[in-house]
Amino acid sequence: MVDFQKIKGFIFDLDGVITLTSKYHSRAWRELADELGVPWTATLAERLKGISRMDSLEMILDAGGKTNGYSDADKERLAAKKNSNYLACLEQMTDADILPGITDFLEELMAHDYKISLASASKNSPKVLEKLNLAKYFANIVDPAKLSKGKPDPEIFLRAAEQLSLKPDACIGIEDASAGIQAINAAGELSIGIGDAETLREAAIHFTATKELTLAAIKRAMQSIA
Ligand code: G6P
Ligand code: MG
Repeated sequence: MVDFQKIKGFIFDLDGVITLTSKYHSRAWRELADELGVPWTATLAERLKGISRMDSLEMILDAGGKTNGYSDADKERLAAKKNSNYLACLEQMTDADILPGITDFLEELMAHDYKISLASASKNSPKVLEKLNLAKYFANIVDPAKLSKGKPDPEIFLRAAEQLSLKPDACIGIEDASAGIQAINAAGELSIGIGDAETLREAAIHFTATKELTLAAIKRAMQSIA
């Protein structure tokens, strides 16, 4: 039984939910995969969403059957290279890159005194929020460097709830990646998936696009699954 009145906080993923940095992550990984001779597929691109930098590199090496070919120092160098390509993509970013409806939704949450947090695996999140001029909404950000496990482990969403002083079942998590939805569900929070319905089939609530995010729409969707 999910009761809308019980919800006190919203925990956002960043890449692919607030802005399309997901495409820049993909582009930078693809460049590296090409260089390493690892075939790039849509499935691999989807699996990388929400996954930390080093875990993503491991996934790419694994997909190419190259897990044993690189030392830790090589891996650090490859990950740093991907990150500098990614950072170059961020240069041109402005608040025009905020996905439709996100600013209005954040304003609506503030106006109704909901707590807001960011649960992104990205160490570049604070920089992205600054570029988008959204830092003011996110007084609470989970620092992914202080976590021991990445998504789909629930740790990041549990930490977010804890930082907001809320129980998990008082929180809604919003994600665009399957690993993220699994993490929210495992944390005992209510999951909202934004994007492809089949990819996000494990989400409790599904919206096709961010512009559908409003408190009224979420309340309606919760009533229909209650
Ligand atoms: C997010 C993105 C992933 C990215 C990860 C780490 O979860 O969805 O694609 O690999 O963050 O990002 P970072 O900016 O720290 O390399
Ligand atoms: Mg994402």
